[in-house]
Amino acid sequence: MAGTVFFAILALCFIAAYNPVAFHANRGSPMTVKVGNQNKAHTVIYDNVKTNVGLAYNSAEGTFKCPEDGIYSFSWTSDVPKGKHFDTVFILKHKSSQHGAKITGNRASAVGFNGSVQSTKNVVVDMKKGDTALIKTIGNAANVLHGDMHSFSSFSGFKIL
Ligand SMILES: *[C@@H]1O[C@H](CO)[C@@H](O)[C@H](O)[C@H]1NC(C)=O
Repeated sequence: MAGTVFFAILALCFIAAYNPVAFHANRGSPMTVKVGNQNKAHTVIYDNVKTNVGLAYNSAEGTFKCPEDGIYSFSWTSDVPKGKHFDTVFILKHKSSQHGAKITGNRASAVGFNGSVQSTKNVVVDMKKGDTALIKTIGNAANVLHGDMHSFSSFSGFKIL
């Protein structure tokens, strides 16, 4: 009996300490990188927010700011029109650093292909409070990301533990 009560209290403490963090945002319009500007890395802004529990995703900047230390999972999908490409990389920025680290890439290319291509990548990272996660284009490998009401391109993430 005492043991059961003890574990029940322990479980309640754990639930009380757990703050869920989860977001999902779509790209609502195409992102076209201008010729002459394609050699640079650009942040991809997913403007159409569907879920933002914990309010860690900033849809004006396209950034997820870690609200508390933990293990996080992210996923992003790039849909590109035929003949276009949109290679991107997941960036993890520690709060003190300016540029951040490239963790993993997502290649989405419909060059030489008669139709659109959709590509998804997942990543799991150990984040500290104040760290930022975002998606950036890869220089000379990204020109057009599809975006419309059907939301084929998106960015999402959540805290695992
Ligand atoms: C590309 O796809 C369109 C629509 O499906 C088709 O009409 C056209 O013939 C295709 N072009 C080539 C070069 O295969």
